[in-house]
Amino acid sequence: MEKLKGLILSGGAGTRLRPITHTSAKQLVPVANKPVLFYGIEALVAAGVGEIGIIIAPETGAEIEAAVGDGSRFGAAITFIGQDEPKGLAHAVLTAEDYLGSDPFVMYLGDNLLRDGITELVQAFRSSEPDAMILLTSVLHPEHYGVAELDGDRIVRLIEKPVDPPSDLALVGVYMFTSKVFAAAKAIQPSPRGELEITDTIQRMVDDGLRVDSHRVKGWWKDTGQLADMLEANRLVLEEGSRRIDGELIDSTVEGRVVVEPGAVLERTTVRGPAVIGAGARITNSYIGPYTAVGEDVVIEASEVEHSILLAGCEVRDLPSRLEASLLGREVKLARSDRLPKTLRMIVGDRSEITLA
Ligand code: TTP
Repeated sequence: MEKLKGLILSGGAGTRLRPITHTSAKQLVPVANKPVLFYGIEALVAAGVGEIGIIIAPETGAEIEAAVGDGSRFGAAITFIGQDEPKGLAHAVLTAEDYLGSDPFVMYLGDNLLRDGITELVQAFRSSEPDAMILLTSVLHPEHYGVAELDGDRIVRLIEKPVDPPSDLALVGVYMFTSKVFAAAKAIQPSPRGELEITDTIQRMVDDGLRVDSHRVKGWWKDTGQLADMLEANRLVLEEGSRRIDGELIDSTVEGRVVVEPGAVLERTTVRGPAVIGAGARITNSYIGPYTAVGEDVVIEASEVEHSILLAGCEVRDLPSRLEASLLGREVKLARSDRLPKTLRMIVGDRSEITLA
């Protein structure tokens, strides 16, 4: 088989992760302190795919370009491809047609994470040479996903969020295509939600008599497009981390698989892993519970934080109860004040969600 390229979709609107996505790309939200997108790039490189196009949106493209660079730090050659509007996954594929040319390619959704990467899938595609190959995994609630009906390993039908699912096999956000995908994407109409759907494109390939094979994912797979899944991905990645203490511990206890990056200072603090504390963080008189990722230069004083992601530069002080299952954007300040009258005082961005109990 000819050279295989990579296409990572890192545009989109990210409506389900607002307000984070008002100011930043969801693909750059860190999971265990590393942007989700970087896991995808690394998975492609590990599978031997070093020539990668990344689809970017006008609003967040510059930030993604700045974070990724030219790809040399990943051992990849990266080209950024602008998509004017998020008109669907198949629209993104068509946007990349000039870049991809006649080469077969792996398409990877930039907010997806696969525990075991994609090396096996790429090998299977290379050796069996179908027209397309999709990744499938068993899920508990297939009605929330794109679902496949199979004949052996061959795809017969794909249904988006079926009321009556023909199987529990959901489409994972990684696909392999030959250039035959372009004709199929051009032949379909936008769906009721106004997008050119990749499921309709693949269905079209099947209906045209092309060979679309499937491959099962064994390890976990997470689409981090919404908060609960982002936290779950953070938990799963931290779960597999190891212990490394490069920061400074003063009268502090650090239990289990915890990474404390250089320059972080923990004083009179307990950290119970798995957790990661970013470079330059200062944590004093606090408790950091399992499944927490504390970003660079975060300040935490006299507070308890668990099962949460705190982005760089956050400040959390004197909280009256434990902060949990939370995602704080960059430089968020959260504090208790003893000033009277006893009121709630906030400056909160559009579409934030706050629960006080
Ligand atoms: P989705 O999560 O399906 O779509 P979205 O990013 O628009 O999010 P939401 O539904 O919350 O509004 O997209 C999967 C991945 O593909 C994600 O990394 C964004 C990317 N994408 C594009 O690059 N172009 C597009 O046109 C679309 C729809 C998504």
